Amino acid sequence: MQSWGDGYITDIEYADGFYPAQGPRQMGLAALMRGLETPDFDRPFAYCELGCGRGRTSLVFAALHPHGEFHAVDFHPAHIAQAEQEARAADLNNIRFHEKSFEELLGPDAPPLPMFDVVTLHGVWSWVSPESQAAIVAFLKARLKPGGLVFVSYNSLPAWLQVSPLQRIIKELADAAPERSDVAVGHAVQTLERLSQAGVIPEPFRDAVTKIQGQAERGQFDYLAHEYLNAHWRPLYHIDVVRALEPAKLAYAGSSDLLRNFPILGLTDAQSAALSGISGDALRETLTDFCVGSAFRRDLFVRGARRLMAGVRAERVAALELMLLAPFPEVIQLQAPDGSLWKPHSEAYAAVGEQLRAGPRKIGDLLSAPGMPEGHQVGPVELAGVLVGIGLAAVHHRVDTAAVAAAERFNGLLRPPEQTSMTTGVTLAIPAISSGVMMSAAEYTLFWAARRGPVDVEAAAHAFVARCRRAGGHPIIDGQAYEDEAEAISAATRNYEDKLERLLPLWRLWGLL
Ligand SMILES: C[S@@+](CC[C@H](N)C(=O)[O-])C[C@H]1O[C@@H](n2cnc3c(N)ncnc32)[C@H](O)[C@@H]1O
Repeated sequence: MQSWGDGYITDIEYADGFYPAQGPRQMGLAALMRGLETPDFDRPFAYCELGCGRGRTSLVFAALHPHGEFHAVDFHPAHIAQAEQEARAADLNNIRFHEKSFEELLGPDAPPLPMFDVVTLHGVWSWVSPESQAAIVAFLKARLKPGGLVFVSYNSLPAWLQVSPLQRIIKELADAAPERSDVAVGHAVQTLERLSQAGVIPEPFRDAVTKIQGQAERGQFDYLAHEYLNAHWRPLYHIDVVRALEPAKLAYAGSSDLLRNFPILGLTDAQSAALSGISGDALRETLTDFCVGSAFRRDLFVRGARRLMAGVRAERVAALELMLLAPFPEVIQLQAPDGSLWKPHSEAYAAVGEQLRAGPRKIGDLLSAPGMPEGHQVGPVELAGVLVGIGLAAVHHRVDTAAVAAAERFNGLLRPPEQTSMTTGVTLAIPAISSGVMMSAAEYTLFWAARRGPVDVEAAAHAFVARCRRAGGHPIIDGQAYEDEAEAISAATRNYEDKLERLLPLWRLWGLL
């Protein structure tokens, strides 16, 4: 391990990934849903990502917000080199990448930085040393504007308690082999799998090993190495994260997972009743994690919570426009923790779906449209929470031509399917939702064909199956692996026909075709 990593692995790069919850407007929506005032992202603002990896998330948001000033920090030179190369290639001049450690951000080598409206850290907090965490808090204290938002994700307790010894075992097995981290973690997982198969390791580790083995089978060795091989890996209780961020004057502003706002989905009636008497957000959240076993949290913090009157929140949410992100189902139903199904008002939601299929609509207009059933109780906050929370819709933004042009330049960097990763797929910047969408390798093959004119579905299916073979695996279609060539092609053709019917209207709606 190189000395500059401070216990964090530095011999391989992290997986390329895009995380929509780090979007400024997405963070603003989550805060608004909790009844909090947010920065105005229609005006110039400053955004900082700490531990940006290869920079995909910041690049997408910089392309979509040309009026924002973006900074992204990571101490790994390979990450920064790749991110800078993409920023140059897409001609994005509102983003700067800094090859700095968190500790260096406030020292004599600190780059010139503005005060920020937003700071985000995804997959960083529970993987770095206590010294790095302290440097992050000092940075937030010094550089976040009053009213600014922070997104921080981490492995959470107590869900990790039972299986956290696995991290230590994987790390010790990997450390014992003088190999590069991705190879070493692969061998460590093989050893664990062998022990699990032999039935010599206790429950509940076996289920966790099966999950990790699945990730290894999908070739996610860079992810596994960065998840498990760091010296300071440590899951945390929510209340400890709240306490750690308090010196930067940060207060918890809710989860960026909008469905967490619906207790009916997160808690059984008995849990809800028992927790209702607990005072204090941090304690209630921590006890909720205790009851429901959340293993990963995406928390939002604010420097100075300004609470909105309920009527003001409802009015602001009603003024938002929604746009479809996925085909609208016949019935929406969500599973509660006790296995029961929660169905929001089916006729009201069906009428909303009908309208959204025709294009983006204001939430207020959707709720008062003539087709809505008499006396329905669906309000703007519920509608936005459910539809955005389950990924069926996103808030639609009328963006300027500069954002459209930058997104086109960014999307124009995408290579043909055969030159892209089979495991990570691709991310496209969508100006209409001020965010990106991720496409799997299979979807992207179809999209690439659709961009070039009417799709020959069979030819696209042949191309996808051939790619899977070249990558050394059997094609997996609708969760099933196909060894036989003819069966694989006919399954891929059927799958593509179905996808084309469902996705083509959406790609048009998003302005991609
Ligand atoms: C698990 S990765 C997450 C990357 C990215 N946020 C994502 O989710 O794709 C953690 C990142 O933090 C960076 N990192 C770790 N410790 C750091 C430190 N002390 N200073 C700066 N960057 C650090 C690593 O190089 C790595 O890119």
